[in-house]
Amino acid sequence: MIIGRQIIRLSVTTSTMDEIDRLVGQGEPEGLVVVADRQTAGRGRAGRAWHSASGSGLLFSILLRPRKTPAEIAVFPLIVGLAVAEAIDEIAGVRSSLKWPNDVLIDDKKVAGIVMTSRIMDETIDYLNIGIGINVTGAALPSDGTSLADSSSRIVDRDKLLKKILTRLDNAYASFCISGSGPFIHDWTAKAAYLNERIEAESEGMKIEGIMRGVDDIGALLIETEDGSELRIVAGELTRGPRRPEASNDKVAY
Ligand code: BTN
Repeated sequence: MIIGRQIIRLSVTTSTMDEIDRLVGQGEPEGLVVVADRQTAGRGRAGRAWHSASGSGLLFSILLRPRKTPAEIAVFPLIVGLAVAEAIDEIAGVRSSLKWPNDVLIDDKKVAGIVMTSRIMDETIDYLNIGIGINVTGAALPSDGTSLADSSSRIVDRDKLLKKILTRLDNAYASFCISGSGPFIHDWTAKAAYLNERIEAESEGMKIEGIMRGVDDIGALLIETEDGSELRIVAGELTRGPRRPEASNDKVAY
Protein backbone atom coordinates (compact mmCIF):
# COMPACT_ATOMS: atom_id res chain seq x y z
CA MET A 1 0.00 0.00 0.00
CA ILE A 2 1.36 3.41 -0.97
CA ILE A 3 -1.51 5.80 -0.34
CA GLY A 4 -2.10 6.16 3.38
CA ARG A 5 1.04 4.41 4.63
CA GLN A 6 1.54 7.52 6.74
CA ILE A 7 -1.37 9.65 7.96
CA ILE A 8 -0.93 12.93 9.82
CA ARG A 9 -4.02 14.15 11.69
CA LEU A 10 -4.42 17.81 12.60
CA SER A 11 -7.18 19.58 14.46
CA VAL A 12 -6.61 22.83 12.58
CA THR A 13 -4.47 24.09 9.71
CA THR A 14 -4.70 26.75 7.03
CA SER A 15 -5.14 24.02 4.41
CA THR A 16 -4.06 20.40 4.15
CA MET A 17 -2.66 21.45 0.74
CA ASP A 18 -0.31 23.86 2.54
CA GLU A 19 0.80 21.04 4.83
CA ILE A 20 1.69 18.78 1.89
CA ASP A 21 3.53 21.61 0.11
CA ARG A 22 5.51 22.21 3.31
CA LEU A 23 6.20 18.56 4.12
CA VAL A 24 7.34 17.69 0.61
CA GLY A 25 10.27 20.03 1.18
CA GLN A 26 11.26 17.85 4.13
CA GLY A 27 11.58 14.83 1.83
CA GLU A 28 8.35 13.05 2.78
CA PRO A 29 7.72 10.02 0.53
CA GLU A 30 4.68 9.63 -1.69
CA GLY A 31 1.52 8.27 -0.14
CA LEU A 32 1.55 10.69 2.79
CA VAL A 33 -1.97 11.81 3.78
CA VAL A 34 -2.75 14.91 5.86
CA VAL A 35 -6.24 15.09 7.40
CA ALA A 36 -7.66 18.10 9.26
CA ASP A 37 -10.82 18.76 11.30
CA ARG A 38 -10.77 22.40 10.32
CA GLN A 39 -9.11 24.62 7.71
CA THR A 40 -8.85 28.38 8.00
CA ALA A 41 -7.97 28.91 4.32
CA GLY A 42 -9.28 25.86 2.44
CA ARG A 43 -8.48 25.87 -1.28
CA GLY A 44 -10.94 24.93 -3.99
CA ARG A 45 -10.59 24.59 -7.76
CA ALA A 46 -9.92 27.55 -10.02
CA GLY A 47 -8.67 29.76 -7.20
CA ARG A 48 -11.91 29.48 -5.22
CA ALA A 49 -12.04 29.03 -1.45
CA TRP A 50 -13.39 25.88 0.20
CA HIS A 51 -15.36 26.46 3.39
CA SER A 52 -16.24 23.71 5.81
CA ALA A 53 -17.49 24.20 9.36
CA SER A 54 -15.25 22.66 12.02
CA GLY A 55 -15.62 18.88 12.19
CA SER A 56 -18.32 18.78 9.51
CA GLY A 57 -16.17 17.62 6.61
CA LEU A 58 -13.67 14.96 5.70
CA LEU A 59 -10.78 17.16 4.57
CA PHE A 60 -7.52 15.69 3.41
CA SER A 61 -4.64 15.89 0.95
CA ILE A 62 -2.40 13.23 -0.53
CA LEU A 63 1.19 13.49 -1.74
CA LEU A 64 2.03 11.47 -4.87
CA ARG A 65 5.05 11.26 -7.14
CA PRO A 66 3.98 9.42 -10.30
CA ARG A 67 6.59 9.01 -13.04
CA LYS A 68 4.36 10.72 -15.59
CA THR A 69 4.30 13.84 -17.73
CA PRO A 70 1.84 16.68 -17.05
CA ALA A 71 -0.18 15.61 -20.12
CA GLU A 72 -0.44 12.03 -18.86
CA ILE A 73 -1.58 13.13 -15.42
CA ALA A 74 -4.39 15.46 -16.58
CA VAL A 75 -6.93 12.64 -16.33
CA PHE A 76 -5.93 11.64 -12.81
CA PRO A 77 -8.36 13.95 -10.93
CA LEU A 78 -11.22 12.16 -12.72
CA ILE A 79 -9.88 8.83 -11.50
CA VAL A 80 -9.68 10.26 -7.97
CA GLY A 81 -13.28 11.47 -8.30
CA LEU A 82 -14.39 8.00 -9.34
CA ALA A 83 -12.68 6.37 -6.34
CA VAL A 84 -14.22 8.94 -3.97
CA ALA A 85 -17.71 8.52 -5.49
CA GLU A 86 -17.54 4.71 -5.31
CA ALA A 87 -16.37 4.81 -1.69
CA ILE A 88 -19.17 7.23 -0.79
CA ASP A 89 -21.73 4.93 -2.43
CA GLU A 90 -20.44 1.95 -0.52
CA ILE A 91 -20.17 3.58 2.90
CA ALA A 92 -23.19 5.90 2.76
CA GLY A 93 -25.46 3.59 0.74
CA VAL A 94 -26.21 6.27 -1.87
CA ARG A 95 -25.87 6.53 -5.64
CA SER A 96 -23.62 9.46 -6.41
CA SER A 97 -22.72 10.84 -9.83
CA LEU A 98 -19.69 12.63 -11.23
CA LYS A 99 -19.89 16.10 -12.71
CA TRP A 100 -16.97 16.77 -15.04
CA PRO A 101 -14.24 17.30 -14.23
CA ASN A 102 -14.34 15.96 -10.69
CA ASP A 103 -17.26 16.99 -8.52
CA VAL A 104 -19.19 14.28 -6.72
CA LEU A 105 -22.95 14.88 -6.67
CA ILE A 106 -25.84 13.31 -4.84
CA ASP A 107 -29.28 14.18 -6.21
CA ASP A 108 -27.64 16.80 -8.41
CA LYS A 109 -26.04 18.60 -5.46
CA LYS A 110 -22.33 18.73 -4.73
CA VAL A 111 -21.20 16.57 -1.84
CA ALA A 112 -17.46 16.43 -2.56
CA GLY A 113 -14.81 18.32 -4.49
CA ILE A 114 -11.29 17.53 -5.60
CA VAL A 115 -8.43 19.85 -6.41
CA MET A 116 -5.04 18.81 -7.73
CA THR A 117 -1.88 20.89 -7.94
CA SER A 118 1.47 19.78 -9.28
CA ARG A 119 5.11 20.78 -9.30
CA ILE A 120 6.83 20.11 -12.59
CA MET A 121 10.58 19.60 -12.95
CA ASP A 122 12.32 18.87 -16.27
CA GLU A 123 8.94 18.38 -17.93
CA THR A 124 7.90 15.57 -15.59
CA ILE A 125 5.87 15.55 -12.40
CA ASP A 126 7.95 16.20 -9.30
CA TYR A 127 4.92 15.81 -7.04
CA LEU A 128 1.14 15.98 -7.00
CA ASN A 129 -0.88 17.44 -4.17
CA ILE A 130 -4.41 16.05 -4.28
CA GLY A 131 -6.98 17.69 -2.02
CA ILE A 132 -10.33 16.09 -1.27
CA GLY A 133 -13.17 17.73 0.64
CA ILE A 134 -16.38 15.86 1.51
CA ASN A 135 -19.38 17.38 3.27
CA VAL A 136 -20.14 14.79 5.91
CA THR A 137 -22.58 16.79 8.02
CA GLY A 138 -24.50 19.72 6.70
CA ALA A 139 -23.64 22.98 8.38
CA ALA A 140 -23.77 26.19 6.29
CA LEU A 141 -23.74 24.61 2.86
CA PRO A 142 -24.52 26.56 -0.31
CA SER A 143 -27.92 25.86 -1.94
CA ASP A 144 -26.33 23.67 -4.62
CA GLY A 145 -24.45 21.65 -1.99
CA THR A 146 -25.43 18.68 0.14
CA SER A 147 -23.89 16.51 2.82
CA LEU A 148 -23.86 12.80 3.50
CA ALA A 149 -25.99 13.44 6.60
CA ASP A 150 -28.60 15.18 4.44
CA SER A 151 -28.63 12.68 1.62
CA SER A 152 -28.03 9.31 3.26
CA SER A 153 -30.06 7.41 5.83
CA ARG A 154 -26.83 6.06 7.34
CA ILE A 155 -24.63 7.74 9.91
CA VAL A 156 -21.28 8.00 8.16
CA ASP A 157 -18.14 7.47 10.18
CA ARG A 158 -15.43 9.78 8.80
CA ASP A 159 -12.58 7.38 9.56
CA LYS A 160 -14.33 4.47 7.89
CA LEU A 161 -14.98 6.60 4.82
CA LEU A 162 -11.38 7.83 4.75
CA LYS A 163 -10.07 4.25 4.95
CA LYS A 164 -12.34 3.12 2.11
CA ILE A 165 -11.29 6.03 -0.11
CA LEU A 166 -7.59 5.45 0.55
CA THR A 167 -7.89 1.73 -0.25
CA ARG A 168 -9.77 2.41 -3.49
CA LEU A 169 -7.35 5.19 -4.45
CA ASP A 170 -4.33 3.03 -3.75
CA ASN A 171 -5.64 0.34 -6.11
CA ALA A 172 -6.58 2.93 -8.73
CA TYR A 173 -3.18 4.62 -8.53
CA ALA A 174 -1.31 1.31 -9.00
CA SER A 175 -3.47 0.43 -11.99
CA PHE A 176 -3.19 3.92 -13.50
CA CYS A 177 0.62 3.91 -13.21
CA ILE A 178 0.80 0.60 -15.10
CA SER A 179 -2.11 0.73 -17.55
CA GLY A 180 -3.09 4.40 -17.84
CA SER A 181 -6.64 5.73 -17.79
CA GLY A 182 -8.28 3.28 -20.23
CA PRO A 183 -9.77 0.94 -17.62
CA PHE A 184 -11.37 3.86 -15.74
CA ILE A 185 -13.09 5.74 -18.57
CA HIS A 186 -15.95 3.25 -18.87
CA ASP A 187 -16.69 3.35 -15.13
CA TRP A 188 -16.37 7.13 -15.00
CA THR A 189 -18.80 7.52 -17.90
CA ALA A 190 -21.27 5.14 -16.26
CA LYS A 191 -21.44 7.56 -13.31
CA ALA A 192 -21.35 10.77 -15.35
CA ALA A 193 -23.93 13.43 -14.55
CA TYR A 194 -25.79 14.89 -17.58
CA LEU A 195 -24.59 12.16 -19.96
CA ASN A 196 -26.45 12.60 -23.28
CA GLU A 197 -28.18 15.68 -21.89
CA ARG A 198 -27.91 19.32 -22.88
CA ILE A 199 -25.08 21.06 -21.11
CA GLU A 200 -23.23 24.33 -21.14
CA ALA A 201 -19.47 24.33 -20.71
CA GLU A 202 -17.39 27.38 -19.95
CA SER A 203 -13.78 27.23 -21.02
CA GLU A 204 -11.26 30.05 -21.43
CA GLY A 205 -14.04 32.65 -21.30
CA MET A 206 -16.10 30.89 -23.99
CA LYS A 207 -19.51 29.28 -23.51
CA ILE A 208 -20.22 26.13 -25.46
CA GLU A 209 -23.63 24.47 -25.62
CA GLY A 210 -24.31 20.95 -26.76
CA ILE A 211 -24.90 17.40 -25.67
CA MET A 212 -22.55 15.82 -23.16
CA ARG A 213 -21.11 12.68 -24.78
CA GLY A 214 -18.59 11.64 -22.12
CA VAL A 215 -14.83 12.03 -21.75
CA ASP A 216 -11.81 10.82 -23.69
CA ASP A 217 -8.80 9.00 -22.26
CA ILE A 218 -7.05 12.21 -21.20
CA GLY A 219 -10.19 13.30 -19.33
CA ALA A 220 -11.29 15.94 -21.84
CA LEU A 221 -15.02 16.59 -21.99
CA LEU A 222 -16.69 15.57 -25.26
CA ILE A 223 -19.52 17.79 -26.45
CA GLU A 224 -21.62 17.27 -29.53
CA THR A 225 -22.52 20.69 -30.87
CA GLU A 226 -25.58 21.75 -32.85
CA ASP A 227 -23.92 21.12 -36.23
CA GLY A 228 -23.10 17.53 -35.19
CA SER A 229 -19.39 18.06 -34.68
CA GLU A 230 -17.58 16.93 -31.52
CA LEU A 231 -15.66 19.39 -29.37
CA ARG A 232 -13.08 18.46 -26.74
CA ILE A 233 -12.79 20.69 -23.68
CA VAL A 234 -9.64 20.16 -21.66
CA ALA A 235 -10.38 22.54 -18.77
CA GLY A 236 -13.46 24.40 -17.67
CA GLU A 237 -16.76 24.27 -15.83
CA LEU A 238 -19.88 22.36 -16.72
CA THR A 239 -23.51 23.17 -15.97
CA ARG A 240 -26.78 21.65 -17.05
CA GLY A 241 -27.86 23.34 -20.26
CA PRO A 242 -30.94 25.48 -20.78
CA ARG A 243 -34.09 23.44 -21.39
CA ARG A 244 -35.56 23.44 -24.90
CA PRO A 245 -39.13 24.76 -25.36
CA GLU A 246 -41.63 22.00 -24.46
CA ALA A 247 -43.80 22.72 -27.53
CA SER A 248 -41.44 21.08 -29.99
CA ASN A 249 -41.90 17.39 -30.81
CA ASP A 250 -38.71 17.29 -32.83
CA LYS A 251 -36.14 14.70 -31.86
CA VAL A 252 -33.15 16.76 -30.86
CA ALA A 253 -29.95 15.06 -31.92
CA TYR A 254 -27.39 17.37 -30.41
C1 BTN B 1 -13.43 22.10 -5.30
O1 BTN B 1 -13.31 23.31 -5.54
O2 BTN B 1 -14.45 21.47 -5.59
C2 BTN B 1 -12.31 21.36 -4.64
C3 BTN B 1 -12.38 21.48 -3.16
C4 BTN B 1 -11.29 20.72 -2.45
C5 BTN B 1 -11.31 21.00 -0.98
C6 BTN B 1 -10.33 20.15 -0.22
S1 BTN B 1 -10.59 20.18 1.50
C7 BTN B 1 -9.10 19.35 1.77
C8 BTN B 1 -8.10 19.95 0.82
N1 BTN B 1 -7.52 21.14 1.41
C9 BTN B 1 -7.87 22.23 0.76
O3 BTN B 1 -7.51 23.38 1.07
N2 BTN B 1 -8.62 21.93 -0.29
C10 BTN B 1 -8.86 20.50 -0.39
